[in-house]
Amino acid sequence: MSADLTAGIHDLSVATTQYVLTHETLARQTGADVAKYHKGIGQQSMSVPAADEDIVTMAATAAAPILARHGSDRIRTIVFATETGIDQAKAAGIYVHSLLGMPSATRVVELKQACYSGTAALQFALGLVHRDPSRQVLVIAADSSKYELGSSGEATQGAAAVAMLVAADPALIRLDNTSGLFTADIMDFWRPNYLTTALVDGQESISAYLQAVEGAWKDYTEQGGRSLADFGAFCYHQPFTKMAYKAHRHLLQYHGHDVDEADVVRAVGRTTGYNSVIGNSYTASMYLGLAALLDGSDELTGQSVGFLSYGSGSVAEFFAGDVVPGYRTHLRTDQHRAAIDRRADIDYATYRALHQRSFPTDGGDHATPRETTGPYRLAGLSGHKRIYEPR
Ligand code: COA
Repeated sequence: MSADLTAGIHDLSVATTQYVLTHETLARQTGADVAKYHKGIGQQSMSVPAADEDIVTMAATAAAPILARHGSDRIRTIVFATETGIDQAKAAGIYVHSLLGMPSATRVVELKQACYSGTAALQFALGLVHRDPSRQVLVIAADSSKYELGSSGEATQGAAAVAMLVAADPALIRLDNTSGLFTADIMDFWRPNYLTTALVDGQESISAYLQAVEGAWKDYTEQGGRSLADFGAFCYHQPFTKMAYKAHRHLLQYHGHDVDEADVVRAVGRTTGYNSVIGNSYTASMYLGLAALLDGSDELTGQSVGFLSYGSGSVAEFFAGDVVPGYRTHLRTDQHRAAIDRRADIDYATYRALHQRSFPTDGGDHATPRETTGPYRLAGLSGHKRIYEPR
């Protein structure tokens, strides 16, 4: 392992769902003032998976363009981060590996720790690249967030996948080795195995998140990390986009700075564009923030980006990277905007039916309706086995 080896994110690709529910439609149902959603939590709409979409179809859709550009010869590991697991034993990444026709000489594993595990996947990938810089690692973060109908969390739902190719001499972001870490045993958000929707203590989760920002940053500085003034932008985990603003204000206050709102907007405003229309994609959310920042119109070459990844329960990590010169020619901005624009608007009744949909557990043959216009679909369940197919 070379001390001056640079490793980081070489390619980044986003996918989301077939459907979208706007917060105007939700507000008409809940009776809430739509300004609570638009201004209060900073959300405009939420991605809703079709009956034949899930984390695997979104993940394969996100990863396919990466393989089309780079091939799979150098990828020997797929790390799939999710908290919307589809099986208690088998890793969801194996279905993606199969749909994408990847070589058998691959290790595939799934990671879980609420919304944080995408960052664990990225850190493990960096370790593997440092061990053998000729190899690349495919990191996928994919989730579909789901709260009970009528609950306060409902307005923060969403779904997306982000696939990242982690490599030496990366084309997009060079990542530092220094990280700040924080873990605390807190019940702010969790989902027991027998529930399909998450349980959350909303206000507790906000204060737990802010406590974790402080803890991870404190450790980051103790580990010799950069100073606050070095960063041009901050990507925070965004369960709803206003949370990024709360988190950054908290970090400034922790430093004893007077909070200037224009500084907060400058630091996080460019990271919220995709999350505000997609909603909470749990493990993928912070990386959607990065995608929005890179895809935006500002030239970022040489700027340092701070990342604060938070997963309820709770684990947080602060780390940093630099935007690589020439990054713009490697972006997938058109693909990302098309993925958002292609979603079909649905009414509340359609959303509700999709929310309540589940497969029978009798082991029979259960085909799913053909709904998605994406490249991969969940064809159904047969003998308790999920069947995926290219569309
Ligand atoms: N116009 C503008 N803003 C309004 C408003 C209106 N008509 N009505 C309310 N608001 C604001 C509130 O002041 C509040 O802003 P603030 O937090 O800056 O004070 C915001 O909208 C939300 O209102 P609140 O009453 O707190 O909403 P809620 O009780 O429905 O809960 C969450 C909001 C985020 C806690 C809830 O959606 C939730 O539990 N989400 C899931 C968990 C989560 O995302 N946790 C985050 C950490 S991981």
